[in-house]
Amino acid sequence: MLIRKPTDISPSEITPDSVYTKRRTLIKAALGGGAIAAAFPASRLLMDMPEERKAAKLGLLSKSEFSTNEEQTPYGDVTSYNNFYELGTGKDDPARNAGFLQTRPWTVLVDGEVKKERTFGIEELLKLAPLEERIYRLRCVEAWSMVVPWVGFPLSALIKQMEPTGNAKYVEFTTLHDPQQLPGQRIPLLDWPYTEGLRMDEAMNPLTLLTLGLYGEVLPNQNGAPVRIVVPWKYGFKSAKSIVRIRFTENQPATSWNEIGGQEYGFYANVNPNVDHPRWSQARERRIGELLKRDTLMFNGYADQVASLYAGMDLKKFY
Ligand code: MTE
Repeated sequence: MLIRKPTDISPSEITPDSVYTKRRTLIKAALGGGAIAAAFPASRLLMDMPEERKAAKLGLLSKSEFSTNEEQTPYGDVTSYNNFYELGTGKDDPARNAGFLQTRPWTVLVDGEVKKERTFGIEELLKLAPLEERIYRLRCVEAWSMVVPWVGFPLSALIKQMEPTGNAKYVEFTTLHDPQQLPGQRIPLLDWPYTEGLRMDEAMNPLTLLTLGLYGEVLPNQNGAPVRIVVPWKYGFKSAKSIVRIRFTENQPATSWNEIGGQEYGFYANVNPNVDHPRWSQARERRIGELLKRDTLMFNGYADQVASLYAGMDLKKFY
């Protein structure tokens, strides 16, 4: 057996104390031995590996002024090194277990503080606004990053169409809750379903992307098909996957990671090299596919577009 020294263990492999303790209690309470394996029966594992590229093309896409021209992370890495706990906790689990998730038919309920709630079929969402390619940096809280050519349209297009009331101060995103399709939900690692949220001005910022694809194709399941959010100046956990509900609220919504480890996962979660995670530095990051680490940029390099949203706020307090 390989025994590793603490110095060999990367931050991405370290489970924060509070999460670890809470998780252990939850897991012990809910499960007997072998339950994690039982949650993912091998007979239903997806045999299609991402390299086969069977995804549907999304047609002609306009290019975005917000795209970075940095080198893109290869499709194979973007689709095989994932965080999607509902499909397993290992980085390669989501790709392997992607076949559990059925993304058609799919609806997204938009409700809460809006003039009139509405349910969108996924085909309607795909046509709601012109699709753009947005090449964004994605910085995970675990100190790795990628550059991904996402496809989608600004969330603001949907918000404007829905006419939120004057009480709408926040937007909450909820992932599908179905332990048959997302077997990780049989294990109480988080308080399912996964929820995330943004302040209204963050949701309206032109960078915030309602995302339906990547690399010119529909989203692979492991990346949050059929629809997810991408908020490039925040840590990746804000970018909720496989969304079934978008709700406008007056009060700040509870979010999954903040609930389980509020000391470590703030509501704002802006990428900030000056505010360490309690258990590791956030000053540097490893771009997937590269050997040497690079400096992490304030707001993940999007300060020009978003710093004004936080003018006057103490970002050490509102981390
Ligand atoms: N959404 C759901 N529903 N479940 C998750 O576990 N993980 C988050 C985020 N969205 C997660 C999620 C985290 S921690 C990251 S870094 C990004 O998804 C990763 O997105 P990617 O796998 O497409 O790179």
